[in-house]
Amino acid sequence: MRWLFLSFALITTSACGKGDKPPPPTTGSKNAKPESGPSNPGTGGEAAGNPDELAKAMFRETCAICHGVGGKGDGQMAANLNPKPRDYTDPAWQASVTDEQIKTIIMEGGQAAGKSATMPAMKSQLQGKPEVLDGLVRLIRGFGPKK
Ligand code: HEC
Repeated sequence: MRWLFLSFALITTSACGKGDKPPPPTTGSKNAKPESGPSNPGTGGEAAGNPDELAKAMFRETCAICHGVGGKGDGQMAANLNPKPRDYTDPAWQASVTDEQIKTIIMEGGQAAGKSATMPAMKSQLQGKPEVLDGLVRLIRGFGPKK
């Protein structure tokens, strides 16, 4: 036991001999974001994830803060919003909108559809990804009453 301990101590002390070589400075481009252009043609195939998975991920990351993970309009930010996001599980709301209206609001934002401008336009994120937009519509429809 003692030997083990000793050799450990030896190894560790010699491994970090101080003085001669200071570690490289750690200030740097940790926060630098790689440029990710909107040009993702979406032809990457299945490896990139299927549209429903991509839509789910986007909803979780981008929409849930307002709309809530379950689509009930109870995201963290919702309390401060006026008007508040709709409860997608409400059958009356589900019946009141068409898929086209949902798409327009997602792409163009609330204002374009005569609704609150706090609903941001998602055009830039969804440019060239109609399959993800369709996935979002399916997701939102999925929050509604099961048929
Ligand atoms: C900053 C908060 C916020 C974010 C982020 C947000 N929304 Fe919204 N959204 C709203 C608000 C507020 C409304 C309600 C607007 C109104 O009723 O005037 C709304 C309305 C909508 C509607 C129309 C519902 C209706 O009343 O007919 C859809 C569809 C929608 N959002 C989808 C999305 C999707 C999909 C995302 C993510 C890609 C998203 N929203 C991100 C705040 C947000």
